[in-house]
Amino acid sequence: MGTDSGQIDTVMQETRLFPPSAEFAAQSRIGSLAAYQKLYDQAKSNPVAFWEELARKELHWFKPFERGLVWEEPLAQWFVGGQTNACYNCVDVHLASEKRNKAAFIWEGEPGDTRTLTYQQLHREVCKFANVLKGLGVKQGDRVSIYMPMVPELAIAMLACARVGAIHSVVFGGFSAEAVADRNNDAQAILQITADGGYRRGKNLPLKETVDAALAKSPSVKNCIVLRRTGSTVTMQEGRDHWWHELMDRASADCPAEPVDSENSLFILYTSGSTGKPKGIRHTTAGYTLFAKKTFEWVFDYRDDDLFWCTADCGWVTGHSYIVYGPLAAGATVLMYEGAPNWPAEDRFWDIVEKYRVTVLYTAPTAIRAFIKWGDHHVDKHDLSSLRLLGSVGEGINPEAWMWYHRKIGGGRCPIVDTWWQTETGGIMMSPLPGAIATKPGSCTKPLPGVIPEILDDDGKPVPANHGGCLVMSHPWPGMLRGIWGDDKRYQEQYWSKFPHRYLAGDNARIDDDGYYWIMGRIDDVINVSGHRLSTIEVESALVSHPCVAEAAAVGRPDELKGQAVSVFVTLKSGTADDSLREELRKHVRKEIGALAQPDDIRFTGALPKTRSGKIMRRLLRDIAAGKESVGDTTTLEDYTVLAKLRSDEE
Ligand code: WTA
Repeated sequence: MGTDSGQIDTVMQETRLFPPSAEFAAQSRIGSLAAYQKLYDQAKSNPVAFWEELARKELHWFKPFERGLVWEEPLAQWFVGGQTNACYNCVDVHLASEKRNKAAFIWEGEPGDTRTLTYQQLHREVCKFANVLKGLGVKQGDRVSIYMPMVPELAIAMLACARVGAIHSVVFGGFSAEAVADRNNDAQAILQITADGGYRRGKNLPLKETVDAALAKSPSVKNCIVLRRTGSTVTMQEGRDHWWHELMDRASADCPAEPVDSENSLFILYTSGSTGKPKGIRHTTAGYTLFAKKTFEWVFDYRDDDLFWCTADCGWVTGHSYIVYGPLAAGATVLMYEGAPNWPAEDRFWDIVEKYRVTVLYTAPTAIRAFIKWGDHHVDKHDLSSLRLLGSVGEGINPEAWMWYHRKIGGGRCPIVDTWWQTETGGIMMSPLPGAIATKPGSCTKPLPGVIPEILDDDGKPVPANHGGCLVMSHPWPGMLRGIWGDDKRYQEQYWSKFPHRYLAGDNARIDDDGYYWIMGRIDDVINVSGHRLSTIEVESALVSHPCVAEAAAVGRPDELKGQAVSVFVTLKSGTADDSLREELRKHVRKEIGALAQPDDIRFTGALPKTRSGKIMRRLLRDIAAGKESVGDTTTLEDYTVLAKLRSDEE
């Protein structure tokens, strides 16, 4: 097989196919494969014209744009010459319609307190807070750092920044003072927004304390606004710190949205590279807003009476695009939840679905695997019949986890949209359109209209069907990143240097005989056994299909004979962690996907090291498998004790 040119061998055999029901298809926006194909082909034949037409129709323009795309590789400018405002498109546009009194956010705090904000109420809060920002000297182009719990004020703060043309940088509320300071300094933020605390698993997250430590090292930050959330005691520094409610009391609710150029920066969002310091991914106004809105409507087959729940945190891109900008631009009602899925018990999500009659649920494979491990009885207690559509994002979803999600949460009736995208892409790039595309467990199926992917070998040639290669994008799209904040060179090198004129996503993928895409994992994670390049997700999915296995991570470890040996880390949901289970799992993988992929070492562990957003950190496991100390960046690790435990388990 073409191993010399960097192709990857696929060993996975997944043939189950789930077409949408006739009833679902009949009610959906794009209700047949033919309709999808027509739209896709039309977009592909002239992507710029396709997006131009949508931009004219879907966004409010203070000044119409003159050119759809100015492409000076690697910098794209979309809808050049136009003026718009992301906040206006998310809030103000709905005030003139019957959506004015519709809930924009239905929020539940972890302790069980709730709040609802209609579009009209949201507008008022955002206008007032935009005036607060102005009062503290925030101007167009200034960077504002946001470090908050998942409360409506977080979205209000983001939208208020957009309203005045300032650039927000949201930092996940679980990150350390060091991480906040690094990001503040990189962005040269002038204002910090935070809260006295937030609730997580019944405990108070001392956000303000962390911010105090961060601000001691972030000299560019001149002011800090503090929301009262938990009521815990905090130190307020005279002249620098201000209470949210005091500033809001004095603020006027009259604050027209600032018309800004299409390419005005909307936000910076830091994402960890696998090595080196975090990258500030920069997104701009018009292209991003349009892409978030349309992908939301297409993928989640948005209906006016939906209650859409995306369980991500606004500290991640998923929260930016599918809690704030996408759904609000579409005029949807978004459910927002502050806390942990297992507080006060492991059925909290299902309790929320039942209580609010959620219709669309968008979550991550790491959560789904946790639910499976916690047991079906938590799900069985609740009526989930309101759900009509399920989504997954963040990692590949193992087919067995997909099947559980389909059966147990979706009651066998809800399509699953497995959405592939990245912080860099701004919005969903590949996903089933749920009324049009039959799903296959583990496949993100097809590209969305206006998205043009290819899979290339190391020589830049398209790979044949069922061979893995590098996933690239062959044409700019409106939601694409506009670079890395302050580091044009890294942007060019990382995304545009491997293949000429192609955006390098950094993932491996293959296309099957039906034209479906299968993501195979990060390029850096490929395991090379005797010249055969294996995908991590395929080995992991084979393990997860064993009834005792909850989660698995596969990595390569140096091996004199084979080049690399397959080393796997497994967490169990049942069974005993002993040699007989090891042997059984080896046999199981051999049977499922063949001898080549059979694990050489199997380590049982209570937990796997993950990023804060729930992705398995294979890089760290690689070091453990090889018996090395990790030298790379571990600051994004969710739970440091996991690494220590894994090391101490070493025989
Ligand atoms: C991975 C999250 C397989 C992938 C929106 C990508 C996925 C990285 C999927 C981006 C999926 C995300 N199937 N892999 N459906 N979704 N990924 O920037 O490796 O946090 O490159 O954006 O997550 O992660 P990020």
